[in-house]
Amino acid sequence: MARSSDVSAKPAEPASAKQVQAQQPLPKLLPGTNPLAAAARIGLAITEGGVEGLWNMWNNALELLPGPLRRLVVREPYTDVDLRGKVAIVTGGNAGIGFATARQLARRGAHVVIACRDPERARAAVQRIAATTQPLFPAAALPAAKSRKDAGADAATGSGSGPGSVQVEAMPLDLGRLSSVRDFAEQWRRRGLPLHLLVCNAGIMSPLTRTTTPDGLEVQFQVNFLSHWLLTNLLLEQEHARRRKAREAGSGGAGTDTGTGGTTGSSSSSSSSSSSEGGTRVVMVSSVVHRAGPLQWPDLNSERCYEPYVTYGLSKLADAMMAAELQRRFDRHPDPSSSSTSNSNPKSARHSNSSNNSNSSSPFAVDAAVAIHPGLVATHLSDSFFRGYGGATLCGGAKPLVAAWNAFLDTVGAAMLASPEQAARRMLEACLGPAGRLGGGYLALGMLYPAAADTRDPAKASELWAVASRLTGHTPAPSLS
Ligand SMILES: NC(=O)c1ccc[n+]([C@@H]2O[C@H](COP(=O)([O-])OP(=O)(O)OC[C@H]3O[C@@H](n4cnc5c(N)ncnc54)[C@H](OP(=O)(O)O)[C@@H]3O)[C@@H](O)[C@H]2O)c1
Repeated sequence: MARSSDVSAKPAEPASAKQVQAQQPLPKLLPGTNPLAAAARIGLAITEGGVEGLWNMWNNALELLPGPLRRLVVREPYTDVDLRGKVAIVTGGNAGIGFATARQLARRGAHVVIACRDPERARAAVQRIAATTQPLFPAAALPAAKSRKDAGADAATGSGSGPGSVQVEAMPLDLGRLSSVRDFAEQWRRRGLPLHLLVCNAGIMSPLTRTTTPDGLEVQFQVNFLSHWLLTNLLLEQEHARRRKAREAGSGGAGTDTGTGGTTGSSSSSSSSSSSEGGTRVVMVSSVVHRAGPLQWPDLNSERCYEPYVTYGLSKLADAMMAAELQRRFDRHPDPSSSSTSNSNPKSARHSNSSNNSNSSSPFAVDAAVAIHPGLVATHLSDSFFRGYGGATLCGGAKPLVAAWNAFLDTVGAAMLASPEQAARRMLEACLGPAGRLGGGYLALGMLYPAAADTRDPAKASELWAVASRLTGHTPAPSLS
Protein backbone atom coordinates (compact mmCIF):
# COMPACT_ATOMS: atom_id res chain seq x y z
CA MET A 1 0.00 0.00 0.00
CA ALA A 2 1.24 3.49 -0.69
CA ARG A 3 2.07 5.84 2.10
CA SER A 4 1.80 9.59 1.80
CA SER A 5 5.56 9.72 1.99
CA ASP A 6 5.83 7.70 -1.20
CA VAL A 7 5.25 10.76 -3.30
CA SER A 8 8.16 13.06 -2.85
CA ALA A 9 7.17 15.78 -5.32
CA LYS A 10 5.50 18.84 -3.89
CA PRO A 11 3.66 21.44 -5.91
CA ALA A 12 6.47 23.69 -7.00
CA GLU A 13 6.32 27.31 -7.99
CA PRO A 14 5.41 27.34 -11.69
CA ALA A 15 8.79 27.42 -13.41
CA SER A 16 7.50 28.26 -16.84
CA ALA A 17 4.27 28.20 -18.75
CA LYS A 18 5.50 25.27 -20.80
CA GLN A 19 5.60 21.67 -19.81
CA VAL A 20 9.10 20.47 -19.15
CA GLN A 21 10.46 17.26 -20.59
CA ALA A 22 12.48 15.21 -18.18
CA GLN A 23 15.79 14.34 -19.75
CA GLN A 24 17.04 11.26 -17.98
CA PRO A 25 15.68 7.86 -19.12
CA LEU A 26 13.71 6.13 -16.39
CA PRO A 27 13.14 2.40 -15.98
CA LYS A 28 9.76 1.24 -17.22
CA LEU A 29 8.75 -0.62 -14.07
CA LEU A 30 9.51 -0.10 -10.42
CA PRO A 31 12.42 -2.20 -9.15
CA GLY A 32 10.92 -5.27 -7.52
CA THR A 33 7.80 -5.27 -9.67
CA ASN A 34 6.90 -8.71 -10.90
CA PRO A 35 7.04 -8.34 -14.69
CA LEU A 36 4.82 -11.39 -15.20
CA ALA A 37 2.06 -9.94 -13.01
CA ALA A 38 2.46 -6.64 -14.83
CA ALA A 39 2.19 -8.34 -18.21
CA ALA A 40 -0.90 -10.26 -17.01
CA ARG A 41 -2.65 -7.05 -15.95
CA ILE A 42 -1.77 -5.27 -19.17
CA GLY A 43 -2.80 -8.38 -21.10
CA LEU A 44 -6.21 -8.33 -19.40
CA ALA A 45 -6.73 -4.69 -20.37
CA ILE A 46 -5.70 -5.43 -23.96
CA THR A 47 -8.02 -8.46 -24.11
CA GLU A 48 -10.92 -6.41 -22.82
CA GLY A 49 -10.04 -3.80 -25.42
CA GLY A 50 -9.95 -6.43 -28.18
CA VAL A 51 -13.38 -7.81 -27.25
CA GLU A 52 -14.69 -4.28 -27.16
CA GLY A 53 -13.22 -3.65 -30.61
CA LEU A 54 -15.39 -6.47 -32.00
CA TRP A 55 -18.43 -5.05 -30.20
CA ASN A 56 -17.69 -1.64 -31.73
CA MET A 57 -17.45 -3.21 -35.19
CA TRP A 58 -20.92 -4.70 -34.75
CA ASN A 59 -22.34 -1.36 -33.61
CA ASN A 60 -20.65 0.48 -36.47
CA ALA A 61 -22.24 -1.97 -38.88
CA LEU A 62 -25.67 -1.21 -37.36
CA GLU A 63 -25.05 2.50 -37.92
CA LEU A 64 -24.80 1.77 -41.65
CA LEU A 65 -28.35 0.42 -41.86
CA PRO A 66 -30.80 2.50 -43.90
CA GLY A 67 -32.69 5.27 -42.02
CA PRO A 68 -35.86 3.68 -40.56
CA LEU A 69 -34.14 0.39 -39.79
CA ARG A 70 -31.26 2.20 -38.16
CA ARG A 71 -33.63 4.22 -36.00
CA LEU A 72 -35.22 0.98 -34.88
CA VAL A 73 -32.00 -0.61 -33.63
CA VAL A 74 -29.83 2.39 -32.70
CA ARG A 75 -31.77 4.09 -29.94
CA GLU A 76 -30.97 7.46 -28.41
CA PRO A 77 -31.22 7.00 -24.63
CA TYR A 78 -32.81 9.31 -22.07
CA THR A 79 -34.74 11.38 -24.58
CA ASP A 80 -37.48 11.90 -21.96
CA VAL A 81 -35.14 13.38 -19.35
CA ASP A 82 -35.72 17.11 -19.20
CA LEU A 83 -32.62 18.89 -17.92
CA ARG A 84 -33.92 22.44 -18.18
CA GLY A 85 -32.80 24.34 -15.09
CA LYS A 86 -29.96 21.90 -14.47
CA VAL A 87 -26.33 22.97 -14.59
CA ALA A 88 -23.54 20.72 -15.85
CA ILE A 89 -19.79 21.23 -16.12
CA VAL A 90 -17.86 19.10 -18.60
CA THR A 91 -14.08 19.36 -18.42
CA GLY A 92 -12.43 19.09 -21.82
CA GLY A 93 -15.80 19.70 -23.44
CA ASN A 94 -14.25 21.25 -26.54
CA ALA A 95 -13.23 17.97 -28.18
CA GLY A 96 -13.84 14.25 -28.48
CA ILE A 97 -16.03 12.49 -25.93
CA GLY A 98 -16.43 15.62 -23.79
CA PHE A 99 -17.73 17.63 -26.74
CA ALA A 100 -20.22 14.94 -27.75
CA THR A 101 -21.38 14.58 -24.13
CA ALA A 102 -21.80 18.33 -23.69
CA ARG A 103 -23.92 18.35 -26.82
CA GLN A 104 -26.19 15.57 -25.56
CA LEU A 105 -26.68 17.34 -22.24
CA ALA A 106 -27.43 20.65 -23.97
CA ARG A 107 -29.90 18.83 -26.23
CA ARG A 108 -31.81 17.80 -23.10
CA GLY A 109 -31.97 21.41 -21.91
CA ALA A 110 -29.09 21.53 -19.42
CA HIS A 111 -27.09 24.71 -19.01
CA VAL A 112 -23.71 23.29 -20.02
CA VAL A 113 -20.39 24.86 -19.12
CA ILE A 114 -17.43 23.39 -20.94
CA ALA A 115 -14.24 23.90 -18.95
CA CYS A 116 -11.35 24.22 -21.38
CA ARG A 117 -7.72 25.30 -21.45
CA ASP A 118 -7.68 26.94 -24.88
CA PRO A 119 -10.04 29.92 -25.36
CA GLU A 120 -10.10 29.64 -29.16
CA ARG A 121 -10.93 25.94 -29.17
CA ALA A 122 -13.50 26.58 -26.44
CA ARG A 123 -15.17 29.35 -28.38
CA ALA A 124 -15.31 27.25 -31.54
CA ALA A 125 -16.84 24.34 -29.60
CA VAL A 126 -19.51 26.57 -28.03
CA GLN A 127 -20.44 27.85 -31.46
CA ARG A 128 -20.50 24.38 -32.95
CA ILE A 129 -22.72 22.98 -30.19
CA ALA A 130 -25.06 25.96 -30.46
CA ALA A 131 -25.26 25.71 -34.22
CA THR A 132 -25.74 21.97 -34.53
CA THR A 133 -27.76 20.85 -31.52
CA GLN A 134 -31.47 20.25 -31.89
CA PRO A 135 -33.06 20.65 -28.43
CA LEU A 136 -35.52 18.04 -27.24
CA PHE A 137 -37.50 20.56 -25.16
CA PRO A 138 -38.60 24.17 -25.66
CA ALA A 139 -35.83 26.58 -24.78
CA ALA A 140 -35.41 27.82 -21.23
CA ALA A 141 -34.27 31.38 -20.59
CA LEU A 142 -30.54 31.93 -21.01
CA PRO A 143 -28.51 32.71 -17.88
CA ALA A 144 -28.01 36.38 -17.10
CA ALA A 145 -24.85 37.56 -18.87
CA LYS A 146 -24.27 39.85 -15.90
CA SER A 147 -23.58 36.97 -13.57
CA ARG A 148 -20.91 35.66 -15.92
CA LYS A 149 -19.20 39.02 -16.31
CA ASP A 150 -19.37 39.84 -12.61
CA ALA A 151 -17.67 36.59 -11.82
CA GLY A 152 -14.88 37.26 -14.26
CA ALA A 153 -15.74 34.15 -16.22
CA ASP A 154 -14.82 33.92 -19.86
CA ALA A 155 -18.02 35.55 -21.07
CA ALA A 156 -16.47 36.10 -24.47
CA THR A 157 -17.27 32.54 -25.40
CA GLY A 158 -20.86 33.28 -24.50
CA SER A 159 -23.95 31.23 -24.85
CA GLY A 160 -24.83 30.11 -28.29
CA SER A 161 -28.23 30.13 -29.86
CA GLY A 162 -28.53 27.50 -32.53
CA PRO A 163 -31.58 25.86 -33.97
CA GLY A 164 -33.28 25.96 -30.60
CA SER A 165 -31.20 28.10 -28.25
CA VAL A 166 -29.29 25.55 -26.28
CA GLN A 167 -27.49 26.86 -23.22
CA VAL A 168 -23.78 26.38 -23.56
CA GLU A 169 -20.80 28.47 -22.62
CA ALA A 170 -17.12 28.01 -21.80
CA MET A 171 -15.00 28.85 -18.80
CA PRO A 172 -11.20 28.67 -18.67
CA LEU A 173 -9.63 25.72 -16.91
CA ASP A 174 -6.13 24.34 -17.36
CA LEU A 175 -5.86 21.13 -15.40
CA GLY A 176 -2.10 21.25 -15.79
CA ARG A 177 -2.00 24.12 -13.28
CA LEU A 178 -3.45 23.82 -9.80
CA SER A 179 -3.77 27.61 -9.66
CA SER A 180 -6.09 27.48 -12.68
CA VAL A 181 -8.28 24.92 -10.90
CA ARG A 182 -8.54 27.23 -7.90
CA ASP A 183 -9.34 30.20 -10.16
CA PHE A 184 -12.09 28.21 -11.86
CA ALA A 185 -13.61 27.22 -8.52
CA GLU A 186 -13.46 30.80 -7.30
CA GLN A 187 -15.20 32.08 -10.43
CA TRP A 188 -17.83 29.41 -9.98
CA ARG A 189 -18.36 30.40 -6.35
CA ARG A 190 -18.89 34.02 -7.36
CA ARG A 191 -21.49 33.05 -9.92
CA GLY A 192 -23.54 31.22 -7.29
CA LEU A 193 -24.88 28.69 -9.75
CA PRO A 194 -26.02 25.27 -8.56
CA LEU A 195 -24.09 22.26 -9.75
CA HIS A 196 -26.09 19.22 -10.70
CA LEU A 197 -23.53 17.39 -12.80
CA LEU A 198 -19.75 17.45 -12.97
CA VAL A 199 -18.18 15.39 -15.73
CA CYS A 200 -14.45 14.97 -15.09
CA ASN A 201 -13.59 14.07 -18.66
CA ALA A 202 -10.49 15.98 -19.80
CA GLY A 203 -7.45 13.81 -20.20
CA ILE A 204 -4.23 13.09 -21.96
CA MET A 205 -2.64 9.75 -22.74
CA SER A 206 0.85 8.35 -22.76
CA PRO A 207 3.36 11.05 -23.70
CA LEU A 208 6.37 9.02 -24.80
CA THR A 209 8.68 10.63 -22.25
CA ARG A 210 7.88 11.63 -18.71
CA THR A 211 6.52 15.15 -18.83
CA THR A 212 5.94 17.45 -15.91
CA THR A 213 3.53 20.33 -15.46
CA PRO A 214 4.47 23.79 -14.19
CA ASP A 215 3.50 22.40 -10.76
CA GLY A 216 6.31 19.88 -11.08
CA LEU A 217 3.98 16.87 -11.28
CA GLU A 218 3.79 14.12 -13.89
CA VAL A 219 1.31 15.46 -16.41
CA GLN A 220 -1.07 12.47 -16.68
CA PHE A 221 -1.28 12.08 -12.92
CA GLN A 222 -2.11 15.76 -12.54
CA VAL A 223 -4.42 16.38 -15.52
CA ASN A 224 -6.30 13.09 -15.42
CA PHE A 225 -6.61 12.72 -11.66
CA LEU A 226 -5.12 15.22 -9.22
CA SER A 227 -6.57 18.42 -10.68
CA HIS A 228 -9.95 16.73 -11.04
CA TRP A 229 -9.69 15.67 -7.40
CA LEU A 230 -9.08 19.28 -6.35
CA LEU A 231 -11.76 20.65 -8.67
CA THR A 232 -14.35 18.16 -7.44
CA ASN A 233 -13.66 18.81 -3.77
CA LEU A 234 -13.71 22.58 -4.17
CA LEU A 235 -16.90 22.60 -6.24
CA LEU A 236 -18.73 20.12 -3.99
CA GLU A 237 -17.81 22.09 -0.89
CA GLN A 238 -19.14 25.24 -2.49
CA GLU A 239 -22.25 23.46 -3.65
CA HIS A 240 -22.90 22.06 -0.17
CA ALA A 241 -22.42 25.56 1.28
CA ARG A 242 -24.75 27.03 -1.33
CA ARG A 243 -27.44 24.49 -0.50
CA ARG A 244 -26.96 25.10 3.25
CA LYS A 245 -27.47 28.83 2.69
CA ALA A 246 -30.58 28.18 0.63
CA ARG A 247 -31.96 25.96 3.41
CA GLU A 248 -31.24 28.59 6.03
CA ALA A 249 -32.89 31.22 3.88
CA GLY A 250 -35.89 28.91 3.96
CA SER A 251 -36.16 28.45 0.25
CA GLY A 252 -36.55 24.74 0.81
CA GLY A 253 -35.40 23.80 -2.65
CA ALA A 254 -31.70 23.72 -2.03
CA GLY A 255 -31.22 22.19 -5.40
CA THR A 256 -33.14 24.82 -7.29
CA ASP A 257 -31.51 26.72 -10.06
CA THR A 258 -30.37 30.25 -9.43
CA GLY A 259 -30.49 32.12 -12.63
CA THR A 260 -29.95 29.47 -15.24
CA GLY A 261 -33.36 29.78 -16.65
CA GLY A 262 -36.62 28.23 -15.83
CA THR A 263 -38.03 24.85 -15.35
CA THR A 264 -41.10 26.12 -17.05
CA GLY A 265 -42.77 24.50 -19.98
CA SER A 266 -44.11 21.04 -20.25
CA SER A 267 -41.99 18.48 -18.55
CA SER A 268 -42.05 14.81 -19.16
CA SER A 269 -39.68 14.05 -16.33
CA SER A 270 -39.53 14.72 -12.65
CA SER A 271 -35.95 15.86 -13.15
CA SER A 272 -37.23 19.30 -13.98
CA SER A 273 -38.98 19.61 -10.64
CA SER A 274 -36.31 21.07 -8.45
CA SER A 275 -37.77 20.88 -4.98
CA SER A 276 -36.58 17.35 -4.33
CA GLU A 277 -33.18 17.67 -5.92
CA GLY A 278 -30.33 18.37 -3.59
CA GLY A 279 -27.70 16.23 -5.19
CA THR A 280 -24.74 16.50 -7.52
CA ARG A 281 -23.67 13.70 -9.85
CA VAL A 282 -19.91 13.37 -10.32
CA VAL A 283 -18.80 11.33 -13.33
CA MET A 284 -15.16 10.26 -13.44
CA VAL A 285 -14.05 9.30 -16.92
CA SER A 286 -11.71 6.38 -16.31
CA SER A 287 -10.62 3.72 -18.79
CA VAL A 288 -10.30 -0.01 -19.31
CA VAL A 289 -6.58 0.70 -18.96
CA HIS A 290 -7.09 1.38 -15.25
CA ARG A 291 -6.33 -2.32 -14.79
CA ALA A 292 -2.69 -1.68 -15.66
CA GLY A 293 -2.47 0.82 -12.88
CA PRO A 294 -1.35 -0.73 -9.60
CA LEU A 295 2.17 -1.24 -10.86
CA GLN A 296 3.34 2.20 -9.85
CA TRP A 297 1.26 2.66 -6.76
CA PRO A 298 4.28 3.55 -4.63
CA ASP A 299 5.47 6.06 -7.22
CA LEU A 300 2.39 8.05 -8.15
CA ASN A 301 4.40 10.85 -9.67
CA SER A 302 6.43 8.40 -11.81
CA GLU A 303 9.72 9.73 -10.56
CA ARG A 304 11.41 6.37 -10.20
CA CYS A 305 10.08 4.78 -13.36
CA TYR A 306 7.99 5.79 -16.35
CA GLU A 307 6.11 3.59 -18.75
CA PRO A 308 3.64 5.80 -20.66
CA TYR A 309 0.79 3.28 -20.86
CA VAL A 310 1.16 2.17 -17.25
CA THR A 311 1.38 5.71 -15.93
CA TYR A 312 -1.77 6.56 -17.87
CA GLY A 313 -3.40 3.45 -16.40
CA LEU A 314 -2.48 4.53 -12.90
CA SER A 315 -4.10 7.92 -13.39
CA LYS A 316 -7.24 6.18 -14.64
CA LEU A 317 -7.17 3.78 -11.70
CA ALA A 318 -7.02 6.81 -9.42
CA ASP A 319 -10.09 8.18 -11.23
CA ALA A 320 -12.02 4.95 -10.67
CA MET A 321 -10.90 4.84 -7.03
CA MET A 322 -12.00 8.45 -6.66
CA ALA A 323 -15.56 7.70 -7.79
CA ALA A 324 -15.84 4.77 -5.36
CA GLU A 325 -14.37 6.73 -2.46
CA LEU A 326 -16.49 9.82 -3.12
CA GLN A 327 -19.56 7.60 -2.97
CA ARG A 328 -18.44 6.19 0.39
CA ARG A 329 -18.08 9.74 1.65
CA PHE A 330 -21.49 10.75 0.29
CA ASP A 331 -22.96 7.73 2.06
CA ARG A 332 -21.25 8.72 5.31
CA HIS A 333 -22.44 12.35 5.11
CA PRO A 334 -25.66 12.56 3.13
CA ASP A 335 -26.39 16.18 2.38
CA PRO A 336 -29.46 17.36 4.33
CA SER A 337 -30.85 18.88 1.15
CA SER A 338 -30.89 15.60 -0.66
CA SER A 339 -34.01 13.52 -0.77
CA SER A 340 -32.16 10.62 0.87
CA THR A 341 -32.07 12.35 4.23
CA SER A 342 -35.67 11.53 4.88
CA ASN A 343 -34.32 8.06 5.47
CA SER A 344 -32.20 7.49 8.56
CA ASN A 345 -29.89 5.07 6.78
CA PRO A 346 -28.08 6.90 4.02
CA LYS A 347 -26.92 3.73 2.31
CA SER A 348 -30.37 2.25 2.10
CA ALA A 349 -31.78 5.63 1.21
CA ARG A 350 -29.37 5.85 -1.68
CA HIS A 351 -30.37 2.46 -2.88
CA SER A 352 -34.02 3.17 -2.39
CA ASN A 353 -33.65 5.79 -5.06
CA SER A 354 -33.70 3.13 -7.68
CA SER A 355 -37.26 2.33 -6.71
CA ASN A 356 -40.07 3.82 -8.62
CA ASN A 357 -41.00 6.95 -6.70
CA SER A 358 -40.92 10.51 -7.91
CA ASN A 359 -37.58 11.38 -6.32
CA SER A 360 -35.93 8.25 -7.55
CA SER A 361 -36.39 9.07 -11.21
CA SER A 362 -34.25 12.17 -10.83
CA PRO A 363 -30.57 11.56 -11.45
CA PHE A 364 -29.82 14.42 -9.06
CA ALA A 365 -31.88 13.41 -6.04
CA VAL A 366 -28.73 12.66 -4.03
CA ASP A 367 -25.01 13.21 -4.33
CA ALA A 368 -23.56 10.32 -6.30
CA ALA A 369 -20.31 9.42 -8.03
CA VAL A 370 -19.82 7.06 -10.97
CA ALA A 371 -16.76 5.94 -12.92
CA ILE A 372 -16.99 5.05 -16.59
CA HIS A 373 -14.88 3.57 -19.33
CA PRO A 374 -16.42 5.43 -22.27
CA GLY A 375 -15.20 2.91 -24.79
CA LEU A 376 -12.40 2.81 -27.32
CA VAL A 377 -13.31 5.92 -29.23
CA ALA A 378 -11.98 7.62 -32.35
CA THR A 379 -10.62 10.88 -30.92
CA HIS A 380 -7.40 12.86 -30.93
CA LEU A 381 -6.33 11.04 -27.76
CA SER A 382 -6.73 7.51 -29.14
CA ASP A 383 -5.29 8.45 -32.51
CA SER A 384 -2.11 9.91 -31.08
CA PHE A 385 -1.82 6.96 -28.67
CA PHE A 386 -2.18 4.24 -31.28
CA ARG A 387 0.05 6.01 -33.79
CA GLY A 388 2.62 7.53 -31.44
CA TYR A 389 2.93 5.00 -28.65
CA GLY A 390 1.92 2.08 -30.90
CA GLY A 391 4.45 3.06 -33.54
CA ALA A 392 7.24 3.48 -31.00
CA THR A 393 6.46 0.51 -28.77
CA LEU A 394 4.79 -2.13 -30.92
CA CYS A 395 6.80 -1.40 -34.03
CA GLY A 396 9.97 -0.24 -32.34
CA GLY A 397 9.90 2.79 -34.62
CA ALA A 398 10.89 0.63 -37.67
CA LYS A 399 9.56 2.51 -40.69
CA PRO A 400 8.00 -0.39 -42.69
CA LEU A 401 6.33 -1.74 -39.55
CA VAL A 402 5.04 1.68 -38.59
CA ALA A 403 3.63 2.16 -42.11
CA ALA A 404 1.86 -1.24 -41.92
CA TRP A 405 0.57 -0.43 -38.45
CA ASN A 406 -0.81 2.92 -39.61
CA ALA A 407 -2.47 1.24 -42.59
CA PHE A 408 -4.12 -1.21 -40.17
CA LEU A 409 -5.27 1.70 -37.98
CA ASP A 410 -6.79 3.47 -40.99
CA THR A 411 -8.87 0.43 -41.95
CA VAL A 412 -9.63 -2.39 -39.48
CA GLY A 413 -8.52 -0.31 -36.51
CA ALA A 414 -10.88 2.52 -37.43
CA ALA A 415 -13.80 0.08 -37.67
CA MET A 416 -13.00 -1.20 -34.17
CA LEU A 417 -13.43 2.25 -32.60
CA ALA A 418 -16.67 3.83 -31.49
CA SER A 419 -17.54 7.35 -32.58
CA PRO A 420 -17.63 10.15 -29.97
CA GLU A 421 -21.43 10.22 -30.48
CA GLN A 422 -21.70 6.54 -29.59
CA ALA A 423 -19.50 7.16 -26.55
CA ALA A 424 -21.70 10.08 -25.51
CA ARG A 425 -24.72 7.76 -25.40
CA ARG A 426 -22.80 5.59 -22.92
CA MET A 427 -21.81 8.71 -21.01
CA LEU A 428 -25.49 9.59 -20.64
CA GLU A 429 -25.97 6.42 -18.62
CA ALA A 430 -23.31 7.57 -16.14
CA CYS A 431 -24.73 11.12 -16.08
CA LEU A 432 -28.44 10.33 -15.92
CA GLY A 433 -28.83 6.71 -14.78
CA PRO A 434 -30.27 5.97 -11.33
CA ALA A 435 -27.96 7.01 -8.49
CA GLY A 436 -28.98 4.05 -6.38
CA ARG A 437 -27.84 1.56 -8.97
CA LEU A 438 -24.76 3.36 -10.25
CA GLY A 439 -23.35 5.19 -7.23
CA GLY A 440 -19.77 4.08 -6.55
CA GLY A 441 -19.84 1.79 -9.58
CA TYR A 442 -17.84 1.47 -12.78
CA LEU A 443 -19.61 1.43 -16.13
CA ALA A 444 -18.11 -0.13 -19.23
CA LEU A 445 -19.98 -0.44 -22.53
CA GLY A 446 -23.08 0.83 -20.79
CA MET A 447 -23.06 -1.90 -18.12
CA LEU A 448 -21.93 -2.01 -14.50
CA TYR A 449 -18.76 -3.99 -14.39
CA PRO A 450 -16.30 -4.95 -11.63
CA ALA A 451 -13.45 -2.47 -11.61
CA ALA A 452 -9.94 -3.30 -10.37
CA ALA A 453 -9.79 -4.50 -6.76
CA ASP A 454 -8.17 -1.28 -5.52
CA THR A 455 -11.46 0.55 -6.11
CA ARG A 456 -13.03 -1.56 -3.36
CA ASP A 457 -10.27 -0.87 -0.83
CA PRO A 458 -11.15 2.07 1.46
CA ALA A 459 -7.68 1.98 3.05
CA LYS A 460 -5.99 2.54 -0.29
CA ALA A 461 -8.48 5.27 -1.09
CA SER A 462 -7.61 6.99 2.18
CA GLU A 463 -3.96 6.88 1.20
CA LEU A 464 -4.79 8.34 -2.18
CA TRP A 465 -6.77 11.12 -0.49
CA ALA A 466 -3.83 11.82 1.83
CA VAL A 467 -1.43 12.09 -1.11
CA ALA A 468 -3.83 14.28 -3.08
CA SER A 469 -4.44 16.47 -0.06
CA ARG A 470 -0.74 16.96 0.51
CA LEU A 471 0.09 17.67 -3.12
CA THR A 472 -2.72 20.17 -3.59
CA GLY A 473 -2.55 21.68 -0.11
CA HIS A 474 -6.30 21.16 0.20
CA THR A 475 -8.04 19.35 3.04
CA PRO A 476 -11.58 18.27 2.13
CA ALA A 477 -14.35 19.79 4.23
CA PRO A 478 -16.01 17.66 6.96
CA SER A 479 -18.98 17.00 4.66
CA LEU A 480 -16.56 15.25 2.33
CA SER A 481 -14.44 13.49 4.93
N1 LIG B 1 -10.70 7.86 -26.71
C1 LIG B 1 -10.64 6.70 -26.07
O1 LIG B 1 -10.53 5.62 -26.68
C2 LIG B 1 -10.73 6.67 -24.56
C3 LIG B 1 -10.80 5.43 -23.92
C4 LIG B 1 -10.91 5.40 -22.53
C5 LIG B 1 -10.95 6.57 -21.82
N2 LIG B 1 -10.86 7.77 -22.46
C6 LIG B 1 -10.90 8.99 -21.66
O2 LIG B 1 -11.88 9.85 -22.17
C7 LIG B 1 -11.55 11.20 -21.83
C8 LIG B 1 -11.73 12.09 -23.06
O3 LIG B 1 -10.79 11.70 -24.02
P1 LIG B 1 -11.01 11.86 -25.60
O4 LIG B 1 -10.76 10.53 -26.19
O5 LIG B 1 -12.27 12.56 -25.87
O6 LIG B 1 -9.73 12.76 -25.97
P2 LIG B 1 -9.59 14.15 -26.74
O7 LIG B 1 -10.45 14.21 -27.93
O8 LIG B 1 -8.12 14.31 -26.92
O9 LIG B 1 -10.13 15.20 -25.67
C9 LIG B 1 -9.44 15.44 -24.50
C10 LIG B 1 -9.93 16.72 -23.90
O10 LIG B 1 -9.17 16.97 -22.70
C11 LIG B 1 -8.70 18.31 -22.77
N3 LIG B 1 -7.48 18.53 -22.00
C12 LIG B 1 -6.28 17.93 -22.13
N4 LIG B 1 -5.39 18.49 -21.29
C13 LIG B 1 -6.05 19.44 -20.59
C14 LIG B 1 -5.70 20.38 -19.59
N5 LIG B 1 -4.44 20.48 -19.13
N6 LIG B 1 -6.64 21.20 -19.10
C15 LIG B 1 -7.91 21.16 -19.57
N7 LIG B 1 -8.30 20.32 -20.53
C16 LIG B 1 -7.38 19.48 -21.05
C17 LIG B 1 -8.44 18.54 -24.24
O11 LIG B 1 -8.31 19.92 -24.50
P3 LIG B 1 -7.46 20.43 -25.79
O12 LIG B 1 -8.39 20.28 -26.95
O13 LIG B 1 -7.17 21.85 -25.43
O14 LIG B 1 -6.25 19.57 -25.89
C18 LIG B 1 -9.69 17.93 -24.82
O15 LIG B 1 -10.77 18.82 -24.70
C19 LIG B 1 -10.13 11.17 -21.28
O16 LIG B 1 -10.17 11.26 -19.90
C20 LIG B 1 -9.62 9.80 -21.71
O17 LIG B 1 -8.65 9.32 -20.83
C21 LIG B 1 -10.77 7.85 -23.82
